[in-house]
Amino acid sequence: MNILVIGGGGREHAIAWRFSKSTGVDSVFVAPGNGGTASAKGINNVNLKTPEELLQFAKDNAIALTVVGPEAPLAAGVADLFRSEGLAIFGPSQAAAQLESSKDFAKAFMMRHQIPTAAYASFSEADAAHAYVEQQGAPIVIKADGLAAGKGVVVAMTLEEAHQAIDDMLGGQFGQAGALVVIEEFLAGEEASFIVMCDGKTILPLASSQDHKRQLDGDKGPNTGGMGAYSPAPIVNEVIHERILSEIVIPTIEGMQADGIEYTGFLYAGVMIGDGDDERRPIKVLEFNCRLGDPETQPLLMRIKNDFVSLFEAATQGNLDQVQIDWDPRSAIGVVLAAHNYPAEPRTGDVISGLGADNDEVMVFHAGTKLQDGDIVTSGGRVLCVTALGETIQEAREKAYSAIDDIKFDGMQYRKDIAWRAIK
Ligand code: AMP
Ligand code: GLY
Repeated sequence: MNILVIGGGGREHAIAWRFSKSTGVDSVFVAPGNGGTASAKGINNVNLKTPEELLQFAKDNAIALTVVGPEAPLAAGVADLFRSEGLAIFGPSQAAAQLESSKDFAKAFMMRHQIPTAAYASFSEADAAHAYVEQQGAPIVIKADGLAAGKGVVVAMTLEEAHQAIDDMLGGQFGQAGALVVIEEFLAGEEASFIVMCDGKTILPLASSQDHKRQLDGDKGPNTGGMGAYSPAPIVNEVIHERILSEIVIPTIEGMQADGIEYTGFLYAGVMIGDGDDERRPIKVLEFNCRLGDPETQPLLMRIKNDFVSLFEAATQGNLDQVQIDWDPRSAIGVVLAAHNYPAEPRTGDVISGLGADNDEVMVFHAGTKLQDGDIVTSGGRVLCVTALGETIQEAREKAYSAIDDIKFDGMQYRKDIAWRAIK
């Protein structure tokens, strides 16, 4: 059978890699893919963009199953289009994807369904937004309502930064995505990523994970799409796991149902876990994503032992109640190698060398790369995610950093402290 994976980042390379190892798979197509998927055995890139092009390709190439990686095609309605034509696709509808594509929608939804999240107000007028932050004080968080590739959030430690962020966003920095801003109470604590699969009825939680959003060691510097991730995240113990499920994930899926929206796909809750006893410490939603996280996917997928075709067939056929995820008990880590001048304006076109053999314990997933005249060159901000499994998180970390020692490209930058919270 043929599989289609939509997207072109590290997450999609990891998904395609897992499908390529699944029984009964002839070809995995990735649209548009990257340099890693272009060079991998059993995986082919296809340059398709619009939902209509993707649908036509799926029909012409007997695609049995499609999995959507990023948010943009979901927000554009690709899952609705495929399902309306009777094609199996795993990903939420455009209506359900509003949980990610509009922060104002997500906040109003959480208020309506009593899902714990930071207090907020939304503004399209700069004067009212400036007055609100003056009244609330700093620290305070300013978010563009729409999709901004992980860059639309400013955690303002001073009022000056807050006012600047309001002017930037309402002034058009993110185009239409910033025409409305959500201004939110600052939450302190430790973040975790809690991701589930849902087939509309059954919720199947994945293992816990954490990512590092800041560019520099010690969680300093600007927010990025993610500089590294690991699984499991020790802070998500059994009590916290159960609380996130019962206080956040189940009310979200049920709230969507109550609003007439069936949720089929991955649901990612980014949560902030405050201080206190596990039974009582605050757990609040920072954001919802309607997809797997990147780079969390890369370590998570190293740990899933299930056959991918069976897992996703069950998910698209409403049979997740018959599935259990078989987790590798080992820990996994992914370290992102980013391009010169990421996240501001990453340079592209640098030739990458030292991409050694991938194996079951160390995988180099590509993100911003392309194959050019036989070379793999950088083509985006987050270039590679070097991912490793180990008996302990320390061992996984040593293996990942030792693989990184071989890889070189001009301007390469990466954090040296991924998973520090799990190792301290
Ligand atoms: P988001 O895309 O909404 O998850 O925001 C990106 C990052 O900004 C999060 O991962 C947090 O590190 C930080 N952040 C978002 N909202 C808040 C908040 N209310 N309080 C503190 N930090 C936040
Ligand atoms: N790693 C965070 C995200 O995928 O949005």
